[in-house]
Amino acid sequence: MVDPLLGIGLGALFTLIAVTLHVTRGTEWTPTEDISEEILERRAATVAETDFPEPMNRAIGAGGGAAGAVAAGEAGGELEEAGAEEAAGDDPSAIPDDEAEVFEIEYVKEGTTIEVKENETLLEAGEEEGWDLPYACRQGQCISCSGQITDGGHSEDYVVHHTNEMLGDEEMSEGYTLTCVAYPTADFSLQTGESP
Ligand code: FES
Repeated sequence: MVDPLLGIGLGALFTLIAVTLHVTRGTEWTPTEDISEEILERRAATVAETDFPEPMNRAIGAGGGAAGAVAAGEAGGELEEAGAEEAAGDDPSAIPDDEAEVFEIEYVKEGTTIEVKENETLLEAGEEEGWDLPYACRQGQCISCSGQITDGGHSEDYVVHHTNEMLGDEEMSEGYTLTCVAYPTADFSLQTGESP
């Protein structure tokens, strides 16, 4: 048998301990102030206004976007420059007009010699003269625009083919060229409308 007095005493002691702990911890805790609105306002103040409505999350969304856009803009500029140089390496059309060398090309059938820049194709240059030159795909994938360089030797001694999926080395060694993708690198005479 447990002594009733001892039981009451122990009960009172545990109750006292529980109350003491509750009061102690309760007085230490203070609610955190809600500053989320303040942070949002501060961030919103640093973001440029957009031209379109962006309710509720303008600061969060546009902030990251704006910073990203600035960074992307700077990086983009550098990449663009590098890209242009690289593109000009294998695509003559990327050479700026004011840097492009000019060659004298005689279009034999048309009876005229014209100046053609190294950044334009033989076909484009002829079309600018108003000549109705043959073509179809304009991508080096058919033979419709073919012509023949009559100065002797390989056609790639006179032109760069940006793409050429049709003419083999043997045909080019006879002077054949795809005028839609051929950029001049020398002066020469061209017979348009000639195919191997
Ligand atoms: S038009 Fe097709 S290869 Fe020139």
